[in-house]
Amino acid sequence: MKDFWQSQIELTECYSEGDVKTKLIASLLRYLDFDTSDWRQEYQFNRGEIDFLVGKSKTDKFQPYFFIETKAPKSDLSLYTHQIEYVFKQPEFSKVRYGVLTNGQELIIYDYSLDGKMNKVIDFPNLRSTSSLEQIAFTLSRKLFEEDNEDKSLNAKVITVYNNKGGVGKTTLSINLAAALVEFGYKVLIIDLDAQANTTLGLGIYPPNTQDRNIVALFDDYPRSSLDKLIWENANGNNIDLIPSNIDLYQSLHEFAKKTTSRKEFFLKERIDSLKGTNYDFIFIDVPPAMDITFELATLAGDYMIVPSDLKPFSIYGLTHLLQGSKNRIKILGVVGNNVDLALNISKPVLQIKNQYKLQVFSQIIHNRNCIAQCSGQGLTIFQAEKQKRGNAASVAALEFKSLARQILYNIEESFLAVDTHLKTALEENELEPSLV
Ligand SMILES: Nc1ncnc2c1ncn2[C@@H]1O[C@H](COP(=O)(O)OP(=O)(O)OP(=O)(O)O)[C@@H](O)[C@H]1O
Ligand SMILES: [Mg+2]
Repeated sequence: MKDFWQSQIELTECYSEGDVKTKLIASLLRYLDFDTSDWRQEYQFNRGEIDFLVGKSKTDKFQPYFFIETKAPKSDLSLYTHQIEYVFKQPEFSKVRYGVLTNGQELIIYDYSLDGKMNKVIDFPNLRSTSSLEQIAFTLSRKLFEEDNEDKSLNAKVITVYNNKGGVGKTTLSINLAAALVEFGYKVLIIDLDAQANTTLGLGIYPPNTQDRNIVALFDDYPRSSLDKLIWENANGNNIDLIPSNIDLYQSLHEFAKKTTSRKEFFLKERIDSLKGTNYDFIFIDVPPAMDITFELATLAGDYMIVPSDLKPFSIYGLTHLLQGSKNRIKILGVVGNNVDLALNISKPVLQIKNQYKLQVFSQIIHNRNCIAQCSGQGLTIFQAEKQKRGNAASVAALEFKSLARQILYNIEESFLAVDTHLKTALEENELEPSLV
């Protein structure tokens, strides 16, 4: 079958842009193993149109792999590179891997790094030659994208915990939400992406003791490194797995940020995708309060973001930068009120977040309780404290975290809910209240 489409491509004469589209590109896509349901022609986006958007339908979502702009035969393609760059810059195409430009004779494949540089991956002066076709298939054939994709679809939900404001509870939430999900029976990993290493300490591991088995090694050994060897299983008897961090991460990330390799910002995502086979249900990424390379890496690696906030004015103001910086690259599940005083009237800040920033706020608030800070300081989760019968406050805090975890699960994906037995049990335990306000 592939030979058939190859001969079609080699024999097709194109006299107009219409010929390039209907005869050549249609055959080329079939040669690359895509069928008509895998591409959208004349795809409209808010500020333009793409001739072909090629990808895969997953449940009700279309996931684009690459796009193609066609031009009339004999057109000078160098005049149209800005069009390809324009498409790459649109937030809705930020996870698209390649842009292709062709006039039916010449074909150029581009990619785009997040620091705003478009690179020519390869230029085929004559796409109809057998050797060009083989090379095009080596970059654009369906199975190559699906290998990436399969890894992703079977794997964990990746939750990035982020707010550019410091001290709002990113680390506290990463640890205790992970612990709540473990209580429900899920298998959970936390990646500490912060050189402050608070999550590492909060899970009872002394950062300097992690030697070469920590997140620093991932960046030091770029691009050959992988994550699975860096995992500390059941870090502190709490059944949470951890990839720890330490202070050397500052220097290591500084060097990494200077690298000019294209798509290096996708490095963490690719390495998380290749954790297939480890059976994690959830992976949390705890991010430092900065809009640097860690933010780029964690935004691209995450499926979802949750945003802790003390619901006070400075923290709410910071959401402007968060939204601008994340450029729709990640689904923001909602804002979590944390470290909130029991006496605080939250209706005003909640309304402001909804109206001004169009973000949801989880109705379950985590209140300010000394026991929460104490536990972290001692390397314990709130559930470990509760089991040690440390008083009523620990039990109430543990309940708040469980209830918040339930609301997060409930809001992740309905399709996911339908098949998830752990979650069903978790939900049946308590009647579910409206989770987003
Ligand atoms: N609900 C809470 N009740 C009491 N103390 C809390 C609560 N949440 C967080 N804290 C305390 O507030 C401080 C900051 O929390 P945490 O380290 O989780 O914030 P962070 O956003 O991760 O900070 P950073 O931006 O530095 O990474 C810590 O000392 C923590 O123990
Ligand atoms: Mg932190």
